[in-house]
Amino acid sequence: MTNKRKTIPTTRCCKPLALAGGLPVRSTPFPKWPVFDGKDRRMVLKALDSGRWGKLDGAFNKEFEEKFAAYVDCRFGVTTVNGSVTLKLALWAGGVREGDEVIVPPYTFIATATAVLECNATPVFVDIHPDTYNLDPAMIEQAITPRTKAIIPVHMGGLCADMDRINAIARKHNLLVVEDAAHAHGAEWKGRKAGSLGDIASFSFQSSKNLNSGEGGIVTTRNRTLADRCRWLHHCGRLPGREWYEHGILGGNYRLGELQAALLLAQLTRLEKQTRTRDKNGLYLNRELARIEGIAPLKRGGGETRHCYHLYLCRYRREAFGGWPREKFVKAMQAEGIPFSAGYLVPIYRQPYFLDKDFGPFHKPSLDYRKVRCPACEKACAEEALWLTQNVMLGSRADMDDIVEAVRKVQCAARG
Ligand SMILES: Cc1ncc(COP(=O)(O)O)c(C=O)c1O
Repeated sequence: MTNKRKTIPTTRCCKPLALAGGLPVRSTPFPKWPVFDGKDRRMVLKALDSGRWGKLDGAFNKEFEEKFAAYVDCRFGVTTVNGSVTLKLALWAGGVREGDEVIVPPYTFIATATAVLECNATPVFVDIHPDTYNLDPAMIEQAITPRTKAIIPVHMGGLCADMDRINAIARKHNLLVVEDAAHAHGAEWKGRKAGSLGDIASFSFQSSKNLNSGEGGIVTTRNRTLADRCRWLHHCGRLPGREWYEHGILGGNYRLGELQAALLLAQLTRLEKQTRTRDKNGLYLNRELARIEGIAPLKRGGGETRHCYHLYLCRYRREAFGGWPREKFVKAMQAEGIPFSAGYLVPIYRQPYFLDKDFGPFHKPSLDYRKVRCPACEKACAEEALWLTQNVMLGSRADMDDIVEAVRKVQCAARG
């Protein structure tokens, strides 16, 4: 039987690209971030008017610690100045010390690895899975040595890492599991919230994050000992019941201010609804973009019951776009009004200070980072990954349709 379907020449269906002076698919911006209104103003003013602006004096941090810990199904939360410090404190509290090794993914923000170095320990990079961009559990055990002390799974973009397998490996080898949940406010794994899935977790409230106070962070845990240690560490190493100027352990002042905690209390009231919107849009985009040759959304269904889409990630294959390199595609999409970006451009171990092992005052491990190879991560960085930020995911169904339409339009033009 012959196929009678008419084939339309591609050039006829292609609209002129915005890059080439054509009309862009969108000229209206996606939802703005941050989202705030009178509620946030009232809370910040309340903190201001209280005259108690420090964590030691006020009540806002305490209230937020309790509310956020409960939100992620934990008993304890300790707010700090940012999500880099929380990672360091979590490792520190968990007993990571000089010469220890900590397994980390190379596809993450630099802070995940810096926290390890700041404990005088060695980051050991294990590749990501190409379908999820999360730590590949199948590759963890081969990186474990007698010096391995901890694993930091990053819930990349808000998609939970495979915590069943990671926790099982950690139990077998007696390792601490520190979730880097900087992207994962409200994300769920088998119905349980990110932040309660390992021994201890670290969240960031930096301005781009799904819950934000400009800067800020929190550690969450169900383990009282770890929580107590974090509290002492972030409070200049003071131990409870001692003299004010007695410092029982080495720590620092990492306390969050009250105005930020007040703002976080207001922001927290919106998180659930915003997370549901992002997740719904993500599922829709996955379905629609998967229909386009050369665009592969990252895989879902491995155990996450909710993705919180701090980032919407998908993979680009240039062969399906007339050989256009990803950077050219990104430029064309941006001109169409769709703010795709390429995300991390190198694995962490290719950052200059790793290549030179220029770790300042910290321990210099014997590991030669120039020899590290994580092929899935290298491919994601060099040619494959596409990112959209979480504010885009707060848009309407029509906004999502614009993204799909623009990808099709650019593909049509790229194929010529
Ligand atoms: C994965 C990851 N971990 C940790 C951090 C550090 O958080 P902060 O910027 O609050 O120090 C970030 C921030 O971008 C992050 O993306």
